[in-house]
Amino acid sequence: MASPTPMIEARGLTKVYQAERERSWRRRKPSDTGRRPAVDSVSFDVARGELFVIMGLSGSGKSTLLRMLNRLVEPTAGTVTVDGVEISSAAPGELRRLRNNTLNMVFQHFAIFPHRTLVENVGYGLQIRGIAAGERAERANWALSRVGLKEWGHELPSALSGGMRQRVGLARALATDAEVLLMDEPFSALDPLIRRDMQDLLLDLQSQLKKTIVFVTHDLNEAMRLGERIMVMRDGKLIQLGTGSEILSNPADDYVADFVSDVDRSRVVTAERVMCEPSSSLRGLDLANFATVERNTRLMDIFPLVGEDGTPVCVLDDSGRLVGEISSTALLQALTTDRSVSHA
Ligand SMILES: Nc1ncnc2c1ncn2[C@@H]1O[C@H](COP(=O)(O)OP(=O)(O)OP(=O)(O)O)[C@@H](O)[C@H]1O
Ligand SMILES: [Mg+2]
Repeated sequence: MASPTPMIEARGLTKVYQAERERSWRRRKPSDTGRRPAVDSVSFDVARGELFVIMGLSGSGKSTLLRMLNRLVEPTAGTVTVDGVEISSAAPGELRRLRNNTLNMVFQHFAIFPHRTLVENVGYGLQIRGIAAGERAERANWALSRVGLKEWGHELPSALSGGMRQRVGLARALATDAEVLLMDEPFSALDPLIRRDMQDLLLDLQSQLKKTIVFVTHDLNEAMRLGERIMVMRDGKLIQLGTGSEILSNPADDYVADFVSDVDRSRVVTAERVMCEPSSSLRGLDLANFATVERNTRLMDIFPLVGEDGTPVCVLDDSGRLVGEISSTALLQALTTDRSVSHA
């Protein structure tokens, strides 16, 4: 069982860039547009082993928020605790230790040294940490094999395609053995098919390694595919935080509703968002005569089970108890409407 204390606790995180600019020697531009915070009092927890997605349009404050988690950006106000250590007040040595051992950042663009082999590139972070050559190579080779580049360790980066380069970035993060990966739009520059491959790879790695991942994207489909929970931001504010299914079936406001209107609902919304109370006629019947699904079964997997004669699909909880039913009408309605999904 994972420990119940969250891996990351952010409280009231706020960043006002201009506050610093005013303090600096730089002349203020007369056109400066007020002091709207880039991030405005955002609080959230990320559980150990969770893949947590921050999503929002360009300029909504995603990168600023992510960088406050390891203090690459200094918060104007608020606190961050990572693995029980308060980052916001950590002494330089403690902060360095956390950045080296616990937190690792994966960027969309990262430097690959052209004259070093992949093993050397992937092991670079370990080298600056003073880890001996033998262990470095061992960990780099392990990480390369995890991302499907096992045979490539002695090649130079020039031999790689764009997608493969992005795998190197991921391998570099894995090699450090950091528990927390902070990923800022790492796949945004990739073409759609390679991007999907990388998402699959990340999900696959995550199912084995159970890192705590904070993943920033402005792509809703990517967010829905990857995120166990998704935080939607606008203008520096947290607008909604929930599972993809919760957000799709119950958007917090018109902005979110608009954002999610193009998503393929059948791949995201789950049975429990669509089911209604089991009717009394179902109770006491032998469930073996009905198609049954779990609470978190996706609508796309429920569709084929709905009987033409109108037989509902039964929703069971973990212990096999009947908790809801889904009629064909409810299913169709859930797939076509935005907000009228009926709740249990
Ligand atoms: N170093 C900086 N100095 C001043 N303003 C900044 C700085 N970095 C970001 N900003 C401003 O803060 C706001 C949030 O920017 P941020 O980069 O965090 O957004 P984002 O959601 O990551 O956007 P994108 O999707 O384009 O990467 C924007 O208005 C941006 O102009
Ligand atoms: Mg950004």
